[in-house]
Amino acid sequence: MKRCFVTGGAGFIGSHLTDRLLACGYKVRVFDNFSTGFIEFLEDAQKNPLFSLVEGDLLDKEVLFHAMKGYDFIFHIAANADVRFGLQHPEKDLNQNIVATFNILEGMRLNGIDQIAFSSTGSVYGEPKVFPTPEEVSFPIQTSLYGASKVAGESLISAYCEGFGFRGWIFRFVSVLGERYSHGHVYDFYQQLCANPNDLKVFGNGKQRKSYMYVQDCIDAMLLAINKKKEKLNIFNLGFPGYIDVDFSIRCITQQLGLNPTLHYTGGKQGWVGDNPFIFLDVSQIEKLGWKPKVTIEEGVKKTLDWLQKNLWIYEKRKSLFTASGI
Ligand SMILES: NC(=O)c1ccc[n+]([C@@H]2O[C@H](COP(=O)([O-])OP(=O)(O)OC[C@H]3O[C@@H](n4cnc5c(N)ncnc54)[C@H](O)[C@@H]3O)[C@@H](O)[C@H]2O)c1
Repeated sequence: MKRCFVTGGAGFIGSHLTDRLLACGYKVRVFDNFSTGFIEFLEDAQKNPLFSLVEGDLLDKEVLFHAMKGYDFIFHIAANADVRFGLQHPEKDLNQNIVATFNILEGMRLNGIDQIAFSSTGSVYGEPKVFPTPEEVSFPIQTSLYGASKVAGESLISAYCEGFGFRGWIFRFVSVLGERYSHGHVYDFYQQLCANPNDLKVFGNGKQRKSYMYVQDCIDAMLLAINKKKEKLNIFNLGFPGYIDVDFSIRCITQQLGLNPTLHYTGGKQGWVGDNPFIFLDVSQIEKLGWKPKVTIEEGVKKTLDWLQKNLWIYEKRKSLFTASGI
């Protein structure tokens, strides 16, 4: 892994991965259409001579295939990463998460590239019955278009590994926290509390149990797995070996802000269709390779909020994409 092509490298997770790969001395090309990514996240990377940026869309095969030339490892991180709004635009998950993944795989085949790491999600488990949920449980009924599209992406990758001799690493993340966090519950709650410190709307009943992981722990785990496990197809759950509930997260956030808002729950065990009331993944496979998280969920929430407080510009920039709401 020397010349890395990172799709979605201007996004939250992709930009941290880019910085880390550059710090390891790898040549890195980011391919991003800036639909939810920010050039600001690549400020440090742009100072590094090993870095290059191609602004392009994964649906534009000609530009993509040309940009991939000369690279030998693909980190396919780009996606429509929002579960909640899937039903408002069903075609988005199809195009951004399935067709785009297919285009990447075709670009690899045409350019003689045979290694790919893919950011999948714990959402592929729908509402599992086994906790912590191991990688090998059979896939349930899908509860979101996002989850369904990631299952399809995983399936395409496994078929290309089988059919064309590729090697693949599939990482099923829980929700990720940390600096450059630009969507998710901490983002939404802080946005609401900036607008009105006295009231907070919370989707669901606040009892949803979620596992979160800190972005640097997530990247540590990905790179460790790539270096240590080299089967044809390598599938890992990535998450913190524990969970919190939404009310706990609200307490962390409001205490840090010194606020005591009235909470307005929309009710029900789910915040929205596809919201998984309990996510807790079995991460023993990655732990067996020697991985351990360095940051607890509580510390992750704090780091995220610290960063948002210092980077209010992100709300302005994403205004057209996001509306203030609960989790
Ligand atoms: N953030 C999480 O909590 C989380 C949890 C599980 C899985 N994931 C997965 O991790 C990956 C990264 O998530 P993130 O939170 O960093 O999201 P993000 O929205 O911050 O980053 C996605 C990046 O992909 C780019 N992109 C999207 N569509 C593109 C296209 N057609 N062509 C080129 N670039 C495109 C965006 O501009 C953005 O920079 C995604 O695949 C997501 O599904 C994220």
